[in-house]
Amino acid sequence: MRILLLGSGGREHALAWKMAQSEKCEKLYIAPGNAGTANVGENVPIGVNEFDKIKEFAVINGINMVVVGPEDPLVNGIYDEFVNDERTKHIPVIGPSKQGAVLEGSKDFAKDFMQRHNIPTAKYRTFDGTMLEEGLEYLETLNAPYVLKADGLCAGKGVLILPTLDEAKKELREMLGGMFGNASSKVVIEEYLDGMECSVFVLTDGKHYKILPEAKDYKRIGEHDTGLNTGGMGSVTPVPFATKEWMDKVEKRIIQPTVEGLAEEGIDYKGFIFFGLINVGGEPMVIEYNCRMGDPETESVMLRLKSDIVDLFQGVILGDLDKRKVEFDERAVVCVMLVSGGYPQEYKKGYVIEGLEDVKESVVFHSGTMVKDGKIVTNGGRVIAVSSYGKDKEEALARSFAEADKIRFTDKYLRSDIGKDL
Ligand code: AMP
Ligand code: GLY
Repeated sequence: MRILLLGSGGREHALAWKMAQSEKCEKLYIAPGNAGTANVGENVPIGVNEFDKIKEFAVINGINMVVVGPEDPLVNGIYDEFVNDERTKHIPVIGPSKQGAVLEGSKDFAKDFMQRHNIPTAKYRTFDGTMLEEGLEYLETLNAPYVLKADGLCAGKGVLILPTLDEAKKELREMLGGMFGNASSKVVIEEYLDGMECSVFVLTDGKHYKILPEAKDYKRIGEHDTGLNTGGMGSVTPVPFATKEWMDKVEKRIIQPTVEGLAEEGIDYKGFIFFGLINVGGEPMVIEYNCRMGDPETESVMLRLKSDIVDLFQGVILGDLDKRKVEFDERAVVCVMLVSGGYPQEYKKGYVIEGLEDVKESVVFHSGTMVKDGKIVTNGGRVIAVSSYGKDKEEALARSFAEADKIRFTDKYLRSDIGKDL
């Protein structure tokens, strides 16, 4: 198979690393990729939303499969672009249709979908700009803290959790007043749920599905989950509270009705579904859906997936995913993210990264790197993910830290408490 992967982060490096190991992968291109993906495939200088260029590249290079890493091109309809073009309709895209990607692209749609299919989630209501007074009144019926969500995609910044009613009211006014532009023309207000979060990943062909290893990610910049939200500071798999009993509940109450609900509603969905779950007193509830894999969860989950991922993708394309095997590695995997000092606020780019070749016991995925004058330099807030196996998470974590120590760049920062809350 000649495969084109879209994206340029650590998630894409991890997917590329995994796909490149498949005997079925004859040639792997990554658009646009980063300095790490260049080691497992060939980077192509095309952006993930440049659909015309992507289609042309796929046709000219005899691509047999397009795998989409990030949500943006999915929400923008890359699947439909391929299907509706005579030149590309024979090239399958791993990822949902535009309609399916709305599960991530609109919080209101996602909540409504869950309600229609009796999928457990926080109580909520949605308000638009004409409904400010009703929104303010609804806030008064809830208890603190208050959860406000911009309906549309906001690069992970559209969710506000406010400790007081006054702050919640002020933020609601601002959001409906255009704080996030069009994305907050509608705002979902929902009940706050208290519990530990867990990311569960499923690959579906629209009818059948396979559950992949679950993971927990660490979003805040500071130790013990303090400070600003980031794109993710690390991840751990497996998650201790995701026992067989808990995962059975997840499958019956959440995964099955989601996959069946999509099919019932005639929504074309062939790709990953990411269930952002929260464990409330032993019961799984959905916080959000994403239409792609998680980052930095993929950087640990791919190490625990023993099966050939390209074979699974073929199952998605042919609709016989039920006949394919998914095996997990029994070991624990921990991913620790090395970030640029200052991130997620202002930070500098272009620092030379040294010591990568000294890492022997972990797998290194590049998140934000590029090659400049023959050297690998920092090119983003999140720079390098260091993922390690261990007999348990403590061993995996110790290994990741020891190996991360060998990687040097100016103002390097990492969270040293990844996995310690579990
Ligand atoms: P989302 O973008 O929907 O994943 O929300 C971002 C983060 O906000 C989640 O990962 C949770 O940590 C938190 N969050 C979202 N909704 C709720 C809720 N209803 N209760 C508690 N925390 C929430
Ligand atoms: N790790 C959370 C996400 O990828 O959205």
